[in-house]
Amino acid sequence: MLSKKMLEELNKQMNREFYSGYLYMGLATYFRKENWNGFAHWMDMQAKEEFDHAMKFYQYIFERDSVPEWDALEKPPSSWSSALSAFEVALEHEKKITAHINDLVKLAREEEDYATEAFLQWFISEQVEEEASIREIIQHINQAPDSASHLFLIDRHLAQRKE
Ligand code: FEO
Repeated sequence: MLSKKMLEELNKQMNREFYSGYLYMGLATYFRKENWNGFAHWMDMQAKEEFDHAMKFYQYIFERDSVPEWDALEKPPSSWSSALSAFEVALEHEKKITAHINDLVKLAREEEDYATEAFLQWFISEQVEEEASIREIIQHINQAPDSASHLFLIDRHLAQRKE
């Protein structure tokens, strides 16, 4: 069984992952409203991933003979000033999530909860990938931030995201 403290912290992370899904759906809605359907598709796929992450926490908590608890989710923002600022917000959000995952690993080590430490390893690698992929998109946008045709090409490219 999980310790009370570990259960509380894993629960918070489960809810943060659900919020991440909400945030990406807010971003998808913004891009779709602006007719950037490739960007919107990328955000849809990202939201799905986040809901999957949340479910990994949900299932893990049960596997450790504990019960997850649901928190109310904050309303995500619905507009940003540009594609660039939208991705910058996503990157800042992911950095915060990475810090929370690192804190969880630290707690697992302090408690000598090796099962939770092993469970969290997947998230450590996932955060490296997520930050890198968002950073790459920001770099592409920054090659010509004021060019609509450049953004159009990135939009077409992001429309091909499969998972
Ligand atoms: Fe599940 Fe993007 O962190």
